[in-house]
Amino acid sequence: MSGRIPEAFIHDLLARTDIVEIIGARLDLKRAGKEYKARSPFTNEKSPSFFVSPQKQMFFCFSSGKNGTAISFLMEYDRLSFVEAVEELAQRAGVEVPREGGGHDRVVMDGPLDALAAAQRFFRDQLRSAQGAIDYLKKRGVNGEIAKTFGIGFAPESWDALTSFLKEPKHALEAGLLIQRESGGVYDRFRNRVMFPIRDSRGRVIGFGGRTLANDPAKYLNSPETPLFHKGRNLYGLYEARQSAKSNLPYLLVVEGYMDVVMLAQHGIPEAVATLGTATTREHLGLLFKATSKVVFCFDGDRAGRAAAWRALEQALPEIDGTRECVFMFLPDGHDPDTLVQQIGAEAFRRLVGEAQTLSQFLFGELARQVSLASMDGRAKLAALARPHLEKLRDGPLRSLMLDELARLTRVARADLESMLKPVAAPDEGAQDGGEALSTRHRPSGGANRPVRRAMQLLLEDPRMADRVSHLELLAQADVPGIEVLLEAIDFFHAHPEATAAHLLEFWRDTPKGRGVERLLQRGAEDPIGEGTLEREFQDTLTMMGQKVFRARIQHLLTEGRLRPLTDAESREINALQNRRAIPWTR
Ligand code: UTP
Ligand code: MN
Repeated sequence: MSGRIPEAFIHDLLARTDIVEIIGARLDLKRAGKEYKARSPFTNEKSPSFFVSPQKQMFFCFSSGKNGTAISFLMEYDRLSFVEAVEELAQRAGVEVPREGGGHDRVVMDGPLDALAAAQRFFRDQLRSAQGAIDYLKKRGVNGEIAKTFGIGFAPESWDALTSFLKEPKHALEAGLLIQRESGGVYDRFRNRVMFPIRDSRGRVIGFGGRTLANDPAKYLNSPETPLFHKGRNLYGLYEARQSAKSNLPYLLVVEGYMDVVMLAQHGIPEAVATLGTATTREHLGLLFKATSKVVFCFDGDRAGRAAAWRALEQALPEIDGTRECVFMFLPDGHDPDTLVQQIGAEAFRRLVGEAQTLSQFLFGELARQVSLASMDGRAKLAALARPHLEKLRDGPLRSLMLDELARLTRVARADLESMLKPVAAPDEGAQDGGEALSTRHRPSGGANRPVRRAMQLLLEDPRMADRVSHLELLAQADVPGIEVLLEAIDFFHAHPEATAAHLLEFWRDTPKGRGVERLLQRGAEDPIGEGTLEREFQDTLTMMGQKVFRARIQHLLTEGRLRPLTDAESREINALQNRRAIPWTR
């Protein structure tokens, strides 16, 4: 794709930028040891928990959970897009932003994003003259202002209205706006539908949902999955909700439908988002918790609604802790948020939000329905039913309180319940937003990649240690998930001896690896590493992983030895390996 900002430019730009200056110009920073601190600009906290590290060239905000580079700070605080933030820094540094392909154009008009933007303008303009659609929206109570905020439009009843509006079908096809005919040619996917644009976190339209005005059996039609648009990774209304708030959102409501989001916003509850006709995913939760610390799931009170809520709960268990909360709200029969808020108004609706069930109430409530708490057998069964769920929780006060509650309900001693559970999951277990690279999802056994994460944490603390790692080729054979990510980071710092953690983070921006590193850094900052022991611990961690490689090879040879006589070479190898256990993994 032409027009991208070259990675090397971003790298150099960060080297010319001092994050302390950038943030210092916007917040009142006070020195605190090696770092600077301030009150969080993203929450209304009283005591400062926002830190800037000159060494890592990053900021960490403990009250909002945000962290990142100077670029990320400008994106969050000044509400800039990535490109705008880069341009801002470039201007300060007095350099021009180059584009791959040589051009200096701001906008490149040649991708599916442009087709989507053009389609959105087209649908919006069509709505102006489509009396049927206007009447429909009026009938549903949608006012003009909110239609504008959400960019609502109309796709006319025609096979080629959009096709002939767009001069070139290529990118519109890629974007899922048009469909290829077997006989050649293309036609409009969306016909006679009210169109809801779906925006990504930067506000760009990446897909649409369309509601039929006819009696089409597909009441809603969504854009197909495309490289830009993944239902499991985007939420309708999230961009608009974030735009509506000056600081952090007190909570986000997760509802089912487009109309629910729109009508809630119109009635003064702009903090609602909808999944796009799919169940809530872990990636959704990751997105939600980036924007707020409390997620309110809002479901129908019927069986289907409770089943959907249960699926959401299962996704949420590994995500929540003392700072991230999920609650569950069930609507009165026959209502969805759209009809309910129209009937009772925002204030009463917010009261219902306040009365939502906590996760533990919902969890134990649903499980208790399946047993009889009056009998001993029933209580034992409850303990067994609860067990796999509690095992998914992170260690911390919440897990502890839930155990208390289970002990109360089952009348089993808490210590016994605790010993029944598998040891607690590592604190940063699992992928929150697609950060699979460093997650433990694929690990063969408990905590196997913990040393990798620890080594990464230590390395980011002082990237110059990368230079001293030896025997990379042996480490690469370690059967530890995530090792390749660590080795990539080591390679990166080899190649860029002057780089800070911020450089790596920008290098991996918007990738699972980058998100994994971000989380690690946040955790690392919450639990700082002793300066004096840093290098020692790094060394020990690598040694431990390296020894595993040797042990595995020795084991393999010994097993072979039981099946057949080992060759001389193999016997020598065993000896050598046993001696090499003490090999230095760092210089
Ligand atoms: P509902 O059928 O509950 O629709 O679907 P709704 O939002 O109340 O619709 P209105 O009020 O009649 O306009 C809820 C959500 O499920 C997805 C859409 O995201 C919709 O908003 N859905 C529903 C589909 O994707 N396809 C469908 O055919 C129906
Ligand atoms: Mn509805």
